[in-house]
Amino acid sequence: MKGIILAGGRGTRLYPLTRAVSKQLLPVYDKPRVYYPLSVLMLAAIRDILLISTPDDLPQFQRVLGDGSQWGLSVSYAEQAEPRGIAEALLIGARFAAGLPVALVLGDNVFYGSGLQDTLRRAAALERGAVVFAYAVGDPQRYGIVELGGVDAEGRHVALSIEEKPVQPRSNLAIPGMYFYDGEACSLARSLRPSARGELEITDLHQIYLARGELRVELLGRGTAWLDAGTHGALLDAANFVRVVQDRQGLMIACPEEIAWRMGFIDATRLDELARELPDEYARYLRGLLS
Ligand code: G1P
Repeated sequence: MKGIILAGGRGTRLYPLTRAVSKQLLPVYDKPRVYYPLSVLMLAAIRDILLISTPDDLPQFQRVLGDGSQWGLSVSYAEQAEPRGIAEALLIGARFAAGLPVALVLGDNVFYGSGLQDTLRRAAALERGAVVFAYAVGDPQRYGIVELGGVDAEGRHVALSIEEKPVQPRSNLAIPGMYFYDGEACSLARSLRPSARGELEITDLHQIYLARGELRVELLGRGTAWLDAGTHGALLDAANFVRVVQDRQGLMIACPEEIAWRMGFIDATRLDELARELPDEYARYLRGLLS
C-alpha cells in the first residue's frame, strides 16, 4: 500500500502563526506536526509516501523530510495549488498511486493510543473498498459524521449514513482524517464535483463506497487520542498532551527514527548515525533504544 499526506491549505484560522509557516509544520511540543501523520503511515508499514502541499510550503517540507531515505522511506512531493478539498489529493496522487491501494492522512491530524498499530495494520490489509474510522467527539457539527446501525454477520459495524458537517448530526461519531482505500479510489474521485464550499469532499467519496456496500467503519475507542488542533488553544493542548505522556513514560510519541528502527526500515548503525545529527536529549533517547 502507498501513502499520501495532504498538508495543504492556507491555515487562515491560525493566522498570524501560519503566514510564513505551514500549519502542518508548526510544533506539537518537540516535533513538527507532520511527523504525527507520517508516523501513522510508518506504523501501517507504508514506506512509499507522497506529500502534497502548496507551492510556497513544499520547499520547507522537503527540508524537514528530505527524500525519506534517512528513515528507510521514499518520500516524493506534489503541489496542490489551491485548497480545492481533501479528495483532490487522490486526483493529484493518481499517477503516484498507479492503481494500487492507498492510505490518505491529513497533515494536521494527531493520533495516539494503545492498539493503534494493530488497527492500522488491519486497515492497510484491506482488499476491496474503503476503511474509515469513527471517533466520538463533543462537537460533531465540525466534522464528517457517520451514523452506525448495529453489526453484520461478521461482527462489523454497519454504516447507515455519512454526512459532511451536518447542522443536525445523526450521531457524535466523527470520521478522522485517516482513510484507507483500494486501488479504485483515484478513479472514483474523478467523478466528484465541488460542494457548496467549492471543495471536492472526501465525504462524497465515502458516500460512493457506502452506496456500493464497500465502506468499512472501525471504531477508534476511548483509549485513543485524536487531536486535530485547529485552533491556537487546541494546538497548545496537543503540545501539552504529548509532553505529559512523553515525560511520564520516558518514551517519545511519533519519533520517525525510532519507528523506522522498530519496523526494520533501518538498522542499528543507521539509527546511531541519525542520533549524531540530533540534539543531546533526543540522541540519548535513540541510543538508549539500542542498549
Ligand atoms: C475535514 C473533512 C472532515 C473530517 C475532518 C477531519 O474537515 O472534510 O470530513 O472529519 O477533516 O479532520 P475540514 O478540515 O475540511 O474542516
